Amino acid sequence: MGTRVPALVLGVAGSAALLGYLLLRGPAWEGVAIVAATLLPAGLILYGADARRRARALRDQQAITERTLRDTEAANASLKGRLAELTTLNELGVAISSTLDLDALIDVGLESIVRHLRFDRAVILLLDRERSVLTHGRTVGASPELAAIIAGLETPIDVEESLLGQLARADGPMLFEDVDDDPFEPNRQLAEALGVSSFLGTPLVTKSTTVGVLAVDNRLSGRDVSPNDGPLLYTLGSLIAGAIENARLYAEVEAQKAELERRVAQRTAALAGAIEEAQAARAVAEAASATKSQFLSNVSHELRTPLTSVIGFAKLVRKRLEEVVFPVVPPTAVAADPKLERAMRQVGDNLGIMVDEGERLTALINDVLDLAKIEAGRLEWRDDPVDVGELVTRATAATAALFEQTGLALVVDVEDGLPETRGDRDRLIQVLINLLSNAVKFTPSGSVTVSARRITGDIVFAVADTGIGIAPEDRDRVWEQFGQAGDTLTDKPRGTGLGLPISRQIVEHHGGRMWLESTHGVGSVFRFTLPVVDPPARR
Ligand SMILES: Nc1ncnc2c1ncn2[C@@H]1O[C@H](COP(=O)(O)OP(=O)(O)OP(=O)(O)O)[C@@H](O)[C@H]1O
Ligand SMILES: [Mg+2]
Repeated sequence: MGTRVPALVLGVAGSAALLGYLLLRGPAWEGVAIVAATLLPAGLILYGADARRRARALRDQQAITERTLRDTEAANASLKGRLAELTTLNELGVAISSTLDLDALIDVGLESIVRHLRFDRAVILLLDRERSVLTHGRTVGASPELAAIIAGLETPIDVEESLLGQLARADGPMLFEDVDDDPFEPNRQLAEALGVSSFLGTPLVTKSTTVGVLAVDNRLSGRDVSPNDGPLLYTLGSLIAGAIENARLYAEVEAQKAELERRVAQRTAALAGAIEEAQAARAVAEAASATKSQFLSNVSHELRTPLTSVIGFAKLVRKRLEEVVFPVVPPTAVAADPKLERAMRQVGDNLGIMVDEGERLTALINDVLDLAKIEAGRLEWRDDPVDVGELVTRATAATAALFEQTGLALVVDVEDGLPETRGDRDRLIQVLINLLSNAVKFTPSGSVTVSARRITGDIVFAVADTGIGIAPEDRDRVWEQFGQAGDTLTDKPRGTGLGLPISRQIVEHHGGRMWLESTHGVGSVFRFTLPVVDPPARR
């Protein structure tokens, strides 16, 4: 309205002035003067209305701009707040994950809360689940005296009225106000110790488990604690709770590791002790064994010499009797006296038995001597190239008489073109002879097969028979010195049980192995290996 009046006044004044001026110019301008005086106010009114419309639009525009500015500022402030929260969370996350030391990470967490959320003090108490108490209190921002009080707190969480207990049982942040007027005495004491009337707290929760509580206040600056800080405090608390749980697990694992290490060390020490004992026992056994070997070797030697002369003399006496004494006894006297005839026969037979038994004893003594020497490492071994075929040929020749006497068939099966081995030829023949004579001894009827063939880097010998076999329970015993299968007291072929242990020692000395396969009642197979020695490359 304000602009319309001046426009009207201006229009009327303008048209009056124009009218006057035109009328003064002369009657020719009269018509023009009337038209102009009529149109001018209308034009000015129209112009004024338009100007008003534009001014209003401008004002509206300005209001919108101002509102938008206000909105933007508010959004900006909220964004800044969010950014600060995220920065805090991030910094806290990085800081607390940089240590696994429980106290250190609690301190880092508390410091970060105080700094970023601008609280004066922050306190954390841990929940001892077994005892259901809040304990292990630590604080940042408090005086040393208050820190000591907090460190000594032991607050049961099951007490209904206890504020800290309520906090520990809560599932979100809580604002406690007017605590200094609280009807429950310990709450008032707590408020007095802290010097506060209100504080904000949150349970420290990770994976639905509460590990403690966190409380903050603004005692020093006197600012209000705002419940708006609750959600962020809860989130920070969860971060800290996760780190606390990790640190606890780590400590547990460390403790278990230490315990394990302690046990391993204990076991190792015990083992070392046992090994020492075993070594001592072995040394004693070795000493005893060496003494035994020495003793056997001495005794055998001492026995062999007189035995040789006993056998020699027995043979001589038999020879003299047969060649000198018996021929001069008149046949008539023998015929007339049956006693004389029997005495002469018995003397001859008994001398034969003396020679046989003497020779058997000599063989036994030789075996004992061999074993003693092998065990004492005093046997002198030859180391020559050895032809495998020759070993078999000589062993079968040496035992041919046994086969003739028993009527057993001997089958020889030696692969053509076998390579050589190295070692002591006579000792290796001794092994085959032992096996062949055992086979004959323990085979009432059937056959004995001796074979040799190459299997990769070894020559494998086998002596198989169709004899009585060896029961499973005796299979280890036959390798022991004087070990014999079955019942040694019943009538069984003669022997001392030294052949196999000696044979095995000889084979092992040559770098081979010896073992047995047997089916009781069907027969036995004794096998042994000798390493192939490739001939030196031709120059
Ligand atoms: N081929 C076999 N069949 C059945 N039993 C066997 C055979 N070879 C060995 N044995 C058993 O193994 C025992 C030990 O054999 P080993 O050759 O060591 O002693 P031995 O033949 O009794 O006596 P030695 O060989 O000292 O004269 C034998 O007494 C016998 O019981
Ligand atoms: Mg034997």
